[in-house]
Amino acid sequence: MRIRTVTEEDLPELHRLDNEVFERNAYPYFVLRQFFDAYGGHLLVIDDGANLLGYVFATAPDDKVSWILSLAVRPGLQGQGLGRRLMGEILDHVRSAGVREVWLTVEPGNDTAVLLYRSMGFLAEDAPREDYFGPGQHRLVMRLTL
Ligand SMILES: CC(C)(COP(=O)(O)OP(=O)(O)OC[C@H]1O[C@@H](n2cnc3c(N)ncnc32)[C@H](O)[C@@H]1OP(=O)(O)O)[C@@H](O)C(=O)NCCC(=O)NCCS
Repeated sequence: MRIRTVTEEDLPELHRLDNEVFERNAYPYFVLRQFFDAYGGHLLVIDDGANLLGYVFATAPDDKVSWILSLAVRPGLQGQGLGRRLMGEILDHVRSAGVREVWLTVEPGNDTAVLLYRSMGFLAEDAPREDYFGPGQHRLVMRLTL
């Protein structure tokens, strides 16, 4: 297994993986395409030589700040350390690009993701922000100082 940056050829498979993981909340293909155009060097995938197993996206540093836009591991392979590896790698990557503060949002009830982020040093705001992604779509905002 190796972690590497996304290539244009990955995009169709990345789209399928994203749909498998997030279903109705998956990114439309054109959004993935634009992430690739805007942040290509900051989008990482993990593959086994044949298939994509997971991915993590960060934004390019802006005044030493970067956002993690998404993290996903293929269903069936979750809980085996791949998410932690992807997060570790993206944090190293943005740190070496000069980032000193990383932000992300997570669904407040997503205990797996919240625990993972907390264990990596992310601190949450006091309360979730209501309707962050639209009506009923509350999100906990978390921040890590590198
Ligand atoms: C969230 C996600 C990326 C984590 O990746 P993963 O490979 O499953 O997680 P890991 O095996 O690396 O585990 C990392 C930590 O998550 C937590 N965790 C993992 N599986 C868990 C479970 N079933 N229940 C509770 N916590 C769990 C633990 O704190 C674990 O730490 P540990 O290494 O000390 O055991 C993955 O589960 C996923 O893709 N989920 C669906 C999409 C999603 O929710 N993405 C995040 C959006 S913000």
